[in-house]
Amino acid sequence: MKDQLMEIRKKAEEELSKVQSMQELESLRVKYLGKKGQLTSVLRGMGALPAEERPVVGQLANEIREFIERTLEDSRQNLMRKERALKMEQEAIDVTVPGKRRFLGKKHPLSIVMDEIKEVFLGMGYEIAEGPEVELDYYNFEALNIPRNHPSRDVQDTFYIDENVLLRTQTSPVQIRVMEKKKPPIKIICPGRVYRSDAVDATHSPIFHQVEGLVVDKGVTMGDLKGTLQVFARSLFGEKTEIRLRPHHFPFTEPSAEVDVSCWTCGGKGCRVCKGEGWIEILGAGMVHPKVLEVCGIDPDVYSGFAFGLGVERTAMGKFNIDDLRLFYENDVRFLRQF
Ligand code: DAH
Repeated sequence: MKDQLMEIRKKAEEELSKVQSMQELESLRVKYLGKKGQLTSVLRGMGALPAEERPVVGQLANEIREFIERTLEDSRQNLMRKERALKMEQEAIDVTVPGKRRFLGKKHPLSIVMDEIKEVFLGMGYEIAEGPEVELDYYNFEALNIPRNHPSRDVQDTFYIDENVLLRTQTSPVQIRVMEKKKPPIKIICPGRVYRSDAVDATHSPIFHQVEGLVVDKGVTMGDLKGTLQVFARSLFGEKTEIRLRPHHFPFTEPSAEVDVSCWTCGGKGCRVCKGEGWIEILGAGMVHPKVLEVCGIDPDVYSGFAFGLGVERTAMGKFNIDDLRLFYENDVRFLRQF
């Protein structure tokens, strides 16, 4: 029986030294130590031994069991080390391979210009006001002194939702909303989206952006308006920029003017961009009409104000030398990455 046990020990040692995988290891454990394993079956035969030999054989069997257990454990550790080493090798990273370039997101050109415009006016002490894009006819037209038969009220220009509700065609209605609630001094700009029933082409879009400005106080003059717009034009288009006011008509201002800036491309000499004029129109402005002040409960004999409305797309096209407004809305990343 001792020989049998020693034979088991020798075979186990031999087989365990050749083990290649965890499965093999497990089947060897079952083979030697399992319930039906070799060692177990030898021990079962111990009852047939003379009483004095049993402790000796028993001890030997225990030693062999311990030996096999230890060897199993050693092999298991060994295999794990090998597996880990192999995994490390397979997952190794070659830090010398060139990386893939990631592009960061950028601000949209319209947002760049919008933010710059806000900065300039915030710097001059203006506050930002907002109004709804779905607007009442009253605010968009009526209160702004735009009469019933005015062409801008035509369905060809305005998206109506019903008789009294429409998509605002300008940011000017925010003037009324502000003056209804707040008494002078008032100094605000209202940036926002506006809607007109225009077909899309290089210079038209049914949705575009405006920034409205409004200043109401005692003794506000046309000179204040001109000075303000001068500061604005120079911060946006450069220190050499000049502005020019041309007489015009808006129902909500009197007098009214269209405002041109000296051409950002040729500086005023005349070129392709300004169509030889030397000037480019960028906004409408004027002194707030007394009727408009009155409608909002502000006494035109005490207060006066100026207002202006600026097209953001136009300004951005000028600033970035872009000749097609559709580029702003197509969101082609090759275009957007350039800003
Ligand atoms: N709302 C006018 C437009 O969309 C622009 C404008 C002109 C706004 C004169 C004003 C202004 O506040 O005083 O064409």
